[in-house]
Amino acid sequence: MKLKDKVALITGGGRGIGKAIALAYAREGAKLAICARTASEIEETAKEIKVLGTECLAVVCDVSVEETVTKLAQQVKDKFGRIDVLINNAGVMTRPVPIAETEVKKWDYTINVNLRGPFLVTKAVLPLMMRQKSGAIINVSSSIGRGAYANFGAYAVSKWGIEGFTQTLAAEVRSYNIGVNSVEPGYVATKLTGYSGSSPESVTEVFVFLGTDEAKGITGRMLSSSGWRSQLKGN
Ligand SMILES: NC(=O)c1ccc[n+]([C@@H]2O[C@H](COP(=O)([O-])OP(=O)(O)OC[C@H]3O[C@@H](n4cnc5c(N)ncnc54)[C@H](OP(=O)(O)O)[C@@H]3O)[C@@H](O)[C@H]2O)c1
Repeated sequence: MKLKDKVALITGGGRGIGKAIALAYAREGAKLAICARTASEIEETAKEIKVLGTECLAVVCDVSVEETVTKLAQQVKDKFGRIDVLINNAGVMTRPVPIAETEVKKWDYTINVNLRGPFLVTKAVLPLMMRQKSGAIINVSSSIGRGAYANFGAYAVSKWGIEGFTQTLAAEVRSYNIGVNSVEPGYVATKLTGYSGSSPESVTEVFVFLGTDEAKGITGRMLSSSGWRSQLKGN
């Protein structure tokens, strides 16, 4: 088991990519904490995780709301005493429109969940990881955050922001033995894409790898779930 007894916090673990990663982590022996806004979905994920023989704390939390994030981090700390891996996965995408036609409230919503959310959760978790002098933070990005895609305005900007957040944080916490990397998962069949694309289970391998001790020292990298092995070759 590659993640035996590691504690991982995965945001957006109620469905889609986050749920698939949470189950992959459970199969490798990790203890899980998951969060999302929909209680029924995280409870169902937690049930499936427990069947695999490991622990799971499911917390209803909106990652864009500071108070709920503070409580989330406290609950994870109280239950497990440590956090080895944080996966900032929770994300939203609204209907694609040109920037000129983007409603301000949809812009704010997307930036708040996709960029403010990872900032708030990371800020809440970092003191513990810094005390531990170890940790892995994996930010879920997108190819839309690495190129020019018309009509994806706020989503694209939030994911470009995540790349900058990843690079900046990696430089800041390197001396604490905390690795910070981003992963773009490709096109995956989830609610966000209307269930077209590859299966969520097919993209989990890189997330598992980055949580293992084997990945220690890898930081500030922009990886993809399909090409990560060759991207890391010679690293
Ligand atoms: N699917 C793709 O092709 C693709 C491609 C590139 C990147 N991504 C990224 O992958 C990540 C996961 O997306 P997905 O495709 O798995 O989408 P999904 O099936 O819609 O799942 C998103 C998860 O995030 C949670 N979430 C959304 N807003 C939240 C909030 N404010 N607070 C807490 N949890 C929240 C959702 O639960 P609630 O709604 O209940 O809160 C759900 O559990 C996102 O960051 C997305 O941008 C996806």
